[in-house]
Formats: sequence, C-alpha cells, structure tokens
Amino acid sequence: MIRVAIIGAGIGAEHLEGYRALPERFQVATLCDLDTARAAKATGGDPGISISGDLDAVLADPAIDLVDVCLPPHLHFPVSVKALEAGKHVICEKPFDISVKKAAMAVDACKRAGKLLQIGYRCQYDPYHKELMRIGREKELGAIKLIRTCDSFFGVNSSNWRFTDHKLAGGGALMDIGVYCIQGARYGSGEEPVAVRAVNYNTYPDKMDGMEETIVFTLEFPSGAVASCTASYVARADELHISAEKGNYGLEPGYGYATPQLYKQSEKITYPAHNQQATQMDAFARNILDGTPVVASGEEGLRDMRIIEAIYKSAKKGGKRVML
Ligand SMILES: NC(=O)c1ccc[n+]([C@@H]2O[C@H](COP(=O)([O-])OP(=O)(O)OC[C@H]3O[C@@H](n4cnc5c(N)ncnc54)[C@H](O)[C@@H]3O)[C@@H](O)[C@H]2O)c1
Repeated sequence: MIRVAIIGAGIGAEHLEGYRALPERFQVATLCDLDTARAAKATGGDPGISISGDLDAVLADPAIDLVDVCLPPHLHFPVSVKALEAGKHVICEKPFDISVKKAAMAVDACKRAGKLLQIGYRCQYDPYHKELMRIGREKELGAIKLIRTCDSFFGVNSSNWRFTDHKLAGGGALMDIGVYCIQGARYGSGEEPVAVRAVNYNTYPDKMDGMEETIVFTLEFPSGAVASCTASYVARADELHISAEKGNYGLEPGYGYATPQLYKQSEKITYPAHNQQATQMDAFARNILDGTPVVASGEEGLRDMRIIEAIYKSAKKGGKRVML
C-alpha cells in the first residue's frame, strides 16, 4: 500500500478521486492546503484522511511514501525537491517548473534521492492519446506532415493567480495550457522539435500581469513535420489534429477532462470510460512496485521546459526562429 499526501486541494481534489479509484494500491493519508476548509471540503469529511495546513510537517512525516504536488507552479520545484530529499516519491503537476534551471535541478535531486518522479501529464497514459501515438509511430497513414493543436478557455477576466500573478504562474497561457500543445505535438509526431517561432497577442492589455494571454507558435521537427499551436485565455478550443500523407486523425476534445473523441479518417475509435487521474496513478504505482521507468518522467518535463523557454525567447524577438 502506497501512502499518499496530496498538497493543494484544487486539482488535488481530482487526484484524490484517482487514488480512491485504486484502493488496493493507494491510501491517501493527508490532504494539505493553507486553506484547510477547502481541503476538508475536498475530502468530503473522510475520517481516514487528515487535513493539514503545515506543509513542512507533512513532508517530514515518515508515514508518507508519495507526495503529490498540486500547487501553483512557483512551488513545484521547492516542494518536489524537499519531498524527494525527505525520501518520498513525487508526482508533480504540470508545468514541471517555471524555469529550465530549476527543472534540471529537480531532475538531479530525483537522481540523488533514488526516488521516482512523475509529471502530472495524465494524457500520456490515456488510451486515446496512446492510440494516437501508435498511429503516428507505425506510420499507418504515412509520414506526418502537419499538426494543428489548440488549448484554450475563457479566463482572462478571472482573479485566479493564472491570470493575475506572474510570480506564482511563471507565465501565461503557454505555461499553463500551451504545455499540452507541446506535449501533443511531441508525442503525436514522435519527434523532438529543432526550432520554434512564436508571437503573443494580448487583447486585454490591462490584464495578465505582463504574461501572454494568447500565444501562437510553431514547432519544426527533423522529418519536416510542422506543428502549429495556439494557447489562449480568451476563447474555448481544445483539439489535436494530425495530417499525414494518406489521411487525417486526431482528438477533439484534445486535452480536457471530457472523454476524448478519436477519429481516424471517417472511423471513430472509442474505449471504455476511465478516470485519467487513476490511469496515471496506476502506472506510477507499477513503476514504484516493479522498479520500471516512469513514462512522464522529470526528464520529460524538462524537455518541455526547454521548449517553453525557446518559445518565450522567440516571442520576445517578435517571432524570430529560435533553434533548440
Ligand atoms: N493536469 C490537469 O488537468 C490540471 C488541471 C488543473 C490544474 N493543474 C495544475 O495543477 C497546479 C495547481 O493548479 P490548481 O488549479 O489546482 O490551483 P488552485 O489555486 O486551485 O489550488 C492550489 C492550492 O494550493 C494551495 N497552496 C498554495 N500555497 C500553499 C502552501 N505553501 N502550502 C499548502 N497549500 C498551498 C492553495 O491554497 C490552493 O488551494 C498547477 O500547476 C496547474 O497547472 C493541472
């Protein structure tokens, strides 16, 4: 039984449902949040889960095997590293961190600790996304040429830290949801990008604390495939479309919680309903118990951080091509 402390009761509440779906694997012992009322509400008064507002005490608790970091991005690095150094396995929500430097330091801390670290890239474990990867890997419809992906919702008027606090968020739509587009383009193509270009558009200039509200970027892959990607906080869009030499396939919605719809030409592919969080937690449990490698590892999160930094560099230079 893997004993878990979840830190942060926002998306942490969804993670809790994932663990609860796997009672033979996990026991959530603690839900920690500065807002203890929010944490208590998330557990639904479950007497088996202790509520704490004291992060340091939770990280020092020898009864905890796994710390699940569901905090705003600026806390991903310090809390993950502290947990690893305390001998815990870690699941860290996306984005891995707010800088390449700190993400790399967290990867090193993980190696030193000899513990496992998984980034909360739930889509990588989802059967729809895995089938999309397979179609590309086996070139079922020929070589991939174009990828079009978008993740966007209307949030720009909200007071949430994502839209109002650069220090906490580390960046705007790219950091929060554009990372899904980077993931989709990378695992959809099965390649690593070699160059990026990006342009920002801020149509609510008085909002966003200097962060990008809408960002349009391209990723160029060694095969010649190109991904055009958009992340935005001003409209609803969620899709991942792939065009290969002999046809099209893709997912819509692409990354949201609603069950994806996978199409391959005119065919619709469906799988039994499942909880995406439980699917990623189950994979992590198997890695811990069997000593197998983590799919969405720290190194995987670090690759995305490098791409994010290159995209920001390009946007700063008005769309100049930046090599990776
Ligand atoms: N994978 C997904 O589908 C998904 C969805 C939403 C959010 N996220 C990611 O999860 C992370 C958290 O986002 P969220 O939407 O849950 O944010 P949120 O603001 O709703 O929740 C964060 C919680 O952390 C708590 N907190 C802040 N500092 C703390 C501290 N020092 N100690 C204890 N608690 C503290 C806050 O009180 C808050 O309740 C972000 O990185 C976000 O990108 C992922």
